[in-house]
Amino acid sequence: MSVWAVLAAAGSGERLGADRPKAFVRLGEQPLLAESLARLDASEWIDAIVVAAPPGWEEPAILLAEELGCGKVSACVAGGPTRAESVRLGLAEVPGDAAAAVVHDAARPLLEDAVVERVLAALSEGWDGAVPALPLSDTIKRVDGDAVVETLPRDELRAVQTPQAFVADVLRGALDGSDWTDCASAVEAAGGRVKIVEGDARLVKITDAADLERVAALL
Ligand code: CTP
Ligand code: MG
Repeated sequence: MSVWAVLAAAGSGERLGADRPKAFVRLGEQPLLAESLARLDASEWIDAIVVAAPPGWEEPAILLAEELGCGKVSACVAGGPTRAESVRLGLAEVPGDAAAAVVHDAARPLLEDAVVERVLAALSEGWDGAVPALPLSDTIKRVDGDAVVETLPRDELRAVQTPQAFVADVLRGALDGSDWTDCASAVEAAGGRVKIVEGDARLVKITDAADLERVAALL
């Protein structure tokens, strides 16, 4: 079974507010993109990688992959205006006979191979997709403006991360032009069965400057 990774790195990083796209902001000694790229390349579960780079940054992304010696990088495409579109463009470079697609956010640099193993194991069990998730520690309320509408049952809620794994054809069929915030939502809406597996607290998503500092401290 061949497993392809699509690394979503094409966002502009508006909330981080740097002078360049988030994937090229420094994390330690390297651009942020380097961490997830090197980890995917070193993964024993991943056969090939497609990077969706910020438009205009394909060349620096390829150079970075070369510098890091990431021999699994098969293509680097310019991403689209939304994450869903970037994933769709990346997936277009994944060959039709690929068995599984693992979609990961470059904004979550601290990827452990055990998480990749967990999401892929679910596909072997017959699930259409699998997502890593953590239980919530805060109570979550549905609101309307500043009024509480209801308190949601916390036991039934999970915070979902990436990498997310899918049967490649299922993901391809599900990404239909809507702006899904995560790939699993698209697969769920298309009737796919998605399994929740144990997430990883280190898979923090870097959104703002404080997140960047927090993750740098964990490197
Ligand atoms: N992403 C992408 N293409 C887009 C938007 C986002 O590939 N058009 C990727 C980002 O590069 C990131 C992941 O999706 O790795 C999660 O997105 P987010 O954290 O929102 O990153 P940005 O969209 O870059 O940040 P912001 O929303 O603050 O602009
Ligand atoms: Mg965004």
